[in-house]
Amino acid sequence: MKKALIIAIAAFALASCGGREAVKTDPRVEALMKQMTLEEKVGQTVLFTSDWTVTGPSMRSGYLEDIKAGRCGALLNAYTADFTREVQRVAVEETRLGIPILFGYDVIHGFRTIFPINLGMSCSWDIPAIEESARIAAEEAAAAGLQWTYSPMCDISVEPRWGRISEGSGEDPYLGSLISAAMTRGYQGDDLSKDNTILACVKHFAAYGAPQAGRDYNTVDMSERWFREFYLPPYKAAIDAGAMSVMASFNELDGVPAHASNHLMNEILKDEWGFEGFVVSDYTGINEMIMHGYAADESHAAELSMNAGLDMDMMSAAYMNHLTELVKSGKVSEKTLDNAVRRILNIKAKLGLLDDPYKYCDTEREKERTLTPENKAFARRIAAESMVLLKNNGVLPLKKGEKVAVLGPMADTKDDFLGSWRGAGEVEAVPASILDAVKEVTTVAAQANKVILVLGEPWSWTGEAASRTSINLPEEQTELLKSLKKQGKTVAVVLLNGRPLDLSAESELSDAILEAWYPGTMGGYAVADVLFGDYNPSGKLSVTFPRNLGQVPIYHYAKNTGRPYIHPDAKYESRYLDCPNEPLYAFGHGLSYTDFEYSEIGLDVSEFKADGTLTAKVKVTNTGSVEGTETVQLYIRDLVGSVTRPVKQLKGFQRITLQPGESQEVSFTIDKEMLSFYRQDMTWGPETGDFKVFIGGASDNVKEASFRYEI
Ligand code: BGC
Repeated sequence: MKKALIIAIAAFALASCGGREAVKTDPRVEALMKQMTLEEKVGQTVLFTSDWTVTGPSMRSGYLEDIKAGRCGALLNAYTADFTREVQRVAVEETRLGIPILFGYDVIHGFRTIFPINLGMSCSWDIPAIEESARIAAEEAAAAGLQWTYSPMCDISVEPRWGRISEGSGEDPYLGSLISAAMTRGYQGDDLSKDNTILACVKHFAAYGAPQAGRDYNTVDMSERWFREFYLPPYKAAIDAGAMSVMASFNELDGVPAHASNHLMNEILKDEWGFEGFVVSDYTGINEMIMHGYAADESHAAELSMNAGLDMDMMSAAYMNHLTELVKSGKVSEKTLDNAVRRILNIKAKLGLLDDPYKYCDTEREKERTLTPENKAFARRIAAESMVLLKNNGVLPLKKGEKVAVLGPMADTKDDFLGSWRGAGEVEAVPASILDAVKEVTTVAAQANKVILVLGEPWSWTGEAASRTSINLPEEQTELLKSLKKQGKTVAVVLLNGRPLDLSAESELSDAILEAWYPGTMGGYAVADVLFGDYNPSGKLSVTFPRNLGQVPIYHYAKNTGRPYIHPDAKYESRYLDCPNEPLYAFGHGLSYTDFEYSEIGLDVSEFKADGTLTAKVKVTNTGSVEGTETVQLYIRDLVGSVTRPVKQLKGFQRITLQPGESQEVSFTIDKEMLSFYRQDMTWGPETGDFKVFIGGASDNVKEASFRYEI
């Protein structure tokens, strides 16, 4: 610290911004860079894991020695105020320049207080609440010595086989963008140097959510147009919201591994978007380019990555082992290395580490800010908001005091609530399973006629390296449901899972299905809140649920094709012989204990031009007998384009709460940005023509109107 601190402190911001080379620089960083040897510079580009948690295929012993020798400038998987203080002391007191360590960790859906998995939270469509979840996570993590989280995960996915679909926000780029921006704001706040904010890391850059056949780490290939329109927006939204780090993805895209993609990192991220933070590899991602068949050896891999704009090496040790030599031989220019180091040190400065390297290491603060009653109350609320009532024939809500049985292999689980990437969340902090929570509100009897049947996937079937070729529930679970129905029971199924499942059989058999995802620390109580009507379900699917795996990929922004399926008996139309085209539960679907009625759409004008606007309105009425929250969704279709356009695309939504009998007018302003797309020449903008606008409570339950736009 002392050495870093005695370096002159002057006004902020030097050079110009944007582009792969020029980054705004803290004068202290420039002063430091002047003193650094080549080896010390390389050290700042190296990130190792501690031996606390293993989140990848390899581990590194002796990381403290690496830090002491100036070979490692950042550490992941180490936390607590005490431990990070000790490691920081080594960096600050025992290295020549005393440059502080940056501590990173996967704080994905909470740190100690665990919120629902991200796919679940995205079904709340409650953007301020999702931002709040990230703010709380940052507060808890920053109090435990951390300054950097590997989140938000911005990977759009329409691939339920892929275990990591649980970590993202579903299929839609518009909703995904709002969420990735909100999470970035939640983590970073308005000042990274505060002791309750942490650096966000936008991952996995890019298109990791589209692995062929749903197998993790597998090949990704798609047109640049599809990539830019449906996959890229959430990453961009997070960068626009100020995210200052980005993680490369394990996959290749168009034949080039993302870890060596000049197109992704230098051209799109740094040149086109003006990103000023740094790019980190994923775990051993640089080395893996040898297995990809893209790099001949480790030195070649390091050269390719550094030259493509990858600033920091997580766990490959390729930069540590080869960068010095690569610079000496001229294969990597010193300027390129300097740019990477400058980007990394700038972030350390922004985080306040050059002012006080121990500012995140306060044990008192750690105790005070962790798992507070407020954090737990919020976790309970957002868990309830994330749940989606897929089906209900009237059995729900249950009455408090009525006899119910709580059955099923997951009725008493607490562990599964935390899902994958559970941060520092512990099962001991989960106060109640679903069984426990239901027992607190009614009399539970095994022989009761009404059954709450808790089914699902164990959490370890989701997340990284957890792809499945079946998206069914385990067979014995469906058998259990069948046998209960044979006995004449009324069965409400509660699901704990992390991907869209094939629920065709269960939706036929059951009386209700509540999709609860992995709901986090307070999941038991939140499920009971919804089952007994203390919280009226409001979640809407952020991802389509297919009827079976054969329909995959299935998503709401599909194209019409030249032979759309219109005639029930037609042969030569785009259809299946053995299954309808429609999904089981469409994007945006989710029931409530009340009903919402939509009026027809009213348009203020039937056409608009250039920078003008059009207002589309509906009146929504709560026609039931309890208060309810509805997410009113806006979709648009461009009927004819220079490239074909989706039959529906989400363009807006509003969450409203209505008392029984209450109506509210909901209006959306449509402008040219909402009509824009990558036209045939790849320019972004609208085209003259006819459009349809749809408003409703689900993508398959909408009112419709038409308008015209002229450029
Ligand atoms: C995952 C990343 C994660 C990293 C660090 C990798 O295996 O792909 O999402 O952030 O490990 O734990």
